[in-house]
This record gives sequence, structure tokens and C-alpha cells, in this order.
Amino acid sequence: MLVGGLLIFGLIGAAGVALQQAVRRTVRLGAAVSAGPLRDDPAYAATLRNNFSSITTENELKFEIVQPERGVFSFAAADAIVAFAEQHELEVRGHTLVWHNQLPDWLRDGQFSRDDLLRILREHITTVVGRYQGRIAAWDVVNEAFASDGTLRDNLWLRGIGPEYIRLALRWAHEADPEARLYLNEFGLEFGDPKARGVERAVSELLRDEVPLHGIGFQMHLALDNPPDPVLAAQVMQRFADLGLRTDITEMEVAIQNGAGSEAERIAAQAALFGVIARICAEQPACQLFSVWGVADHYSWLPAHTGRPDAPLLFDERYRPKPAHAAVLRALEGRLARGP
Ligand code: G3I
Repeated sequence: MLVGGLLIFGLIGAAGVALQQAVRRTVRLGAAVSAGPLRDDPAYAATLRNNFSSITTENELKFEIVQPERGVFSFAAADAIVAFAEQHELEVRGHTLVWHNQLPDWLRDGQFSRDDLLRILREHITTVVGRYQGRIAAWDVVNEAFASDGTLRDNLWLRGIGPEYIRLALRWAHEADPEARLYLNEFGLEFGDPKARGVERAVSELLRDEVPLHGIGFQMHLALDNPPDPVLAAQVMQRFADLGLRTDITEMEVAIQNGAGSEAERIAAQAALFGVIARICAEQPACQLFSVWGVADHYSWLPAHTGRPDAPLLFDERYRPKPAHAAVLRALEGRLARGP
């Protein structure tokens, strides 16, 4: 009798673990969100809440928006995005606390001592992360800290504080919200070394020193005329997964402006590339987010950046799902988190 009971107990336990593994292996489909269209365009909001379970603030939590003047914080736009997410049970990713870009003039042009910059950075992180404690699930704490050769990018923080700015930022973010997942967010890792090797080396040191770090963001800003080698991209993702980190895809887009062929042929090629990357995520347990950098093509940052029209996302300018959307759903089938 006892043996039978133990056997049943063991089977229930094993099933529970398997279920937990299955639940943990789900992948959220995410999108970067702007407060303007969320407020003004009902179709944008509907597309967002009906198709995505994670949102990333595109610009609203960047330094220049949140602290436009020293000590003066402005959260209205970010609050609106977080409120929408909470209303529709969407996960929120805060982007980004420390970056070399979109800094307010007072910070970029200021002549600050190292102690000043430490004080400024600590106050910024503590104020911003603390405000959304328990409401923002993950933070891109440091964005694009690395150069293409794998060394630390020369930026205001490295020059003014030193390389330790990265570990300090992570520690301060963790102090402000111990439950939030903390990421270093990079582009180009899918193309391998030397950048991937440099990031891997730096991340290994952080983990060795027990600095709170939970994931690497693979931005995946791709283009038809320069696709990554999928085998290499999967190998790089595995190297970071082997360090115990989440390896989420955080900003995917596929620019088609420089692709070959007709518009229809480029849209089809775009779908194929989205599908390839989504399959890499689907096959990597550490990849639990597949996020694109915008809700629909006409709100993409890319045309303004390049000065040329493009259609890099999953939904077109009339919010119709494109072949890329179907390709992503097919690739993620069985892992896709349904609902919140
Ligand atoms: O807010 C001002 C507005 O007042 C002004 O009228 C307008 C015209 O000058 O500019 C507006 O600021 C723009 C800002 O986006 C908000 O829309 C900036 O000019 C523009 O440069 C900025 O672009 C952002 C870009 O980062 C800056 O590098 C994009 O929207 C944003 O999608 C993009 O996102 C980055 C990620 O944060 C990090 N990974 C790469 C990704 C693409 O560069």
C-alpha cells in the first residue's frame, strides 16, 4: 500500500514539475509602445491589447523624457502606458535607465565630477524604478553599453564614472525593485564575435561578483540585405543561456527598404526572416519574450531615421496582420503565452 502511495505521489510530483517547466517555457509576444498613438488612435490600442502580452516603453522612460531638468521628473506619458498595461493585464518592460542617447541637455552638456554623476545616476534609477515597483516587470537597465568590438562603448557614463557604472546601475535598480528582472540590452549579438564575446566576458564577471542581472536583450534590428546566420545566432543565444540568463528578443524589426525584388517579394522575405528568428526563440527555453519595435508600420521609428519609407513590423499601416505576423505565430506555436 505504502509503495503504491509513494509511486502515485512521485508521479504527481513529476507531473507538477513538467507542468511548471511547460508554463515557464511560454514566450510572450511583445511590442514597443508610444504614448501618443496609444492616446489618440483607438485602432493602435486595440491592435496592441488584442495581439500582444508584453509592452516596452519606446521613449517615455528615457532620461530626456523622465528627467528633463535636474531633479524635475515627468512621468505622465509613462504612467499612461503603465495604466493601459495594467488595465489589459499586459507585462511592462521599462526602457531604458542608462544609455548614451536621448540624454537631456543639462546632463549631456554638464561638467560633472565623478561624485556628481554617481549621485545623479543613483537618484535617477532609484526614483524611476521605485515609482513603478511591482508594476514594471523588467528593466533594460543599461542599453547598448558595448561597442562592436566587444569593448565598452565610450559614453558619458564610462568617461565620468568608469566601467563600474554598469554594476552600480544594476545594483541600484535591484535595490529599488528586488522583484524586477534586470537586463543589459544590446544590438548585433546575433552576428557573434567579437561583440558577443566581449559582452559574454563582461557578463560573466558581473555574475561572478553576484551583481543582480537576469537577462540579455537581443534587440534584433535586422534588414533584408544583411540577415544574420541563424545557426550562429542560436549558438550565441545558447552561450548566454548557459550563464543562466534569459535571452529575450526585445526590439525586432526587419527593414525591407534595401531588399531585392518587388514589394510583395520583400514582404515575403521579411516574413521568412521573422520566422527564422522566432524559431530560434521558440527552441531556446531561455528566450521567453519575442518583442517587436512598434505596433504597426506607420508608427515605426525607421522611416524618420533613414529618411526613406519602410515597413519593418508585423502589422501594416491599416493594422492588418502581415505575412510576418503569421510566420511568427507559426514559429512560436505551442510556446506562445496566451493572454496575461
Ligand atoms: O520628442 C521630440 C519632439 O518634441 C520633436 O518635435 C521631434 C522632432 O525633432 O523629435 C522628438 O524626439 C524624437 C524621439 O524619438 C521621440 O519621438 C527624436 O527626434 C528621435 O531621435 C527619437 O528617436 C528614437 C530613437 O531611439 C533615438 O535614438 C526612436 O523613437 C526610438 O524608437 C529609438 O529606439 C531605440 C531604442 O531606444 C534602443 N535600441 C535602438 C532603437 C532604435 O534606434
